[in-house]
Amino acid sequence: MSEEKKIILTGDRPTGRLHLGHYVGSLRNRVKLQDDYNQYILIADMQALTDNAGNPQKVRDNILEVALDYLAAGIDPRKTNICIQSMIPELSELTMYYMNLVSVSRLERNPTIKEELKLRKFGEGAVPTGFLTYPISQAADITAFGASLVPVGEDQLPMLEQTREIVRKFNQTYKSDVLVEPQALVPDISRLPGIDGKAKMSKSLGNAIYLADEPEEIRRKVMSMYTDPNHLRVEDPGNVEDNPVFMYLDAFGTDKETIAEMKEHYRRGGLGDVKVKRYLNDVLQEVLEPIRTRRKEFEKYKPEVYRILQKGTANARVLAGQTLANVKSAMGINYEQSLFRDEETKSTTESGIENSDSTEAERG
Ligand code: TRP
Repeated sequence: MSEEKKIILTGDRPTGRLHLGHYVGSLRNRVKLQDDYNQYILIADMQALTDNAGNPQKVRDNILEVALDYLAAGIDPRKTNICIQSMIPELSELTMYYMNLVSVSRLERNPTIKEELKLRKFGEGAVPTGFLTYPISQAADITAFGASLVPVGEDQLPMLEQTREIVRKFNQTYKSDVLVEPQALVPDISRLPGIDGKAKMSKSLGNAIYLADEPEEIRRKVMSMYTDPNHLRVEDPGNVEDNPVFMYLDAFGTDKETIAEMKEHYRRGGLGDVKVKRYLNDVLQEVLEPIRTRRKEFEKYKPEVYRILQKGTANARVLAGQTLANVKSAMGINYEQSLFRDEETKSTTESGIENSDSTEAERG
């Protein structure tokens, strides 16, 4: 029964197409796990707006791009609910309640936020409140679905830690057990450097290989990759450890024996970068060809993709609504069920008027 399966939730900001970094960090795991778990994937458009307030059109346009990337990568809408964050207002309500449980300084200490603030350059005193507080909204995303497992790259670990803190604080404060503490699922290789050797593959750094890239583009990017800067001549011994080309091979190559031999040869000297890159190109072409082909198929049926999003979002709202109701009743602010009903009972007993009488009075 699907009801008994554990729940997975992840999300992505729709600010651009997905790249190999997304694939390695999380997407590949999601495709695998969807058979055994009840999976929700959130297209986090509200989170994307926290640093794109002036460009909602970009966010809007990328919802479809990201959805196409999911489907192309093998996310199966019969097993996974793909949903749109802003269409689930329950998430925003939860965020409001959680905000009271987190201090401003705790948010400022969140390592992911600190890292992103360095890159964003909002300017002194100009950090949007929505940006600083998005970890709380992400905690709402995760807890709304009762997710016990969150497949993410290691850069998201501080978000999971913050979420677990909120869960504990909530359950403690309201003496409840309605919220579930989630676990992160981080793959062995969870971070790919950019093709320029920078620590992270990212759209804003312009160093990414996209799932939708055409074969020629992939080849061009691979052949231009940064390698060991001290490996000047083919005969020179080279370093494979912080060498993006070998890191990509570790992440995508299936023939581990050949890769081990190549590493050995490269270390010893005598194996040129061009040869390794050609091999990596073959490996990546093989991974990306079926994804690109599937994407082109789905591109022909955009209305179908929108239907998938609508269906996934509707399913997600049901679950998020249940959690919101549980949260409100744990806090004792479920007024329809408590306050109003209490008041009703009190006033009817005081005045001696039965509920049914009032309807009769209305009639008369
Ligand atoms: N912060 C994530 C990112 O930048 C996206 C995200 C939004 C997310 N909501 C989430 C990830 C919930 C995991 C769970 O990639």
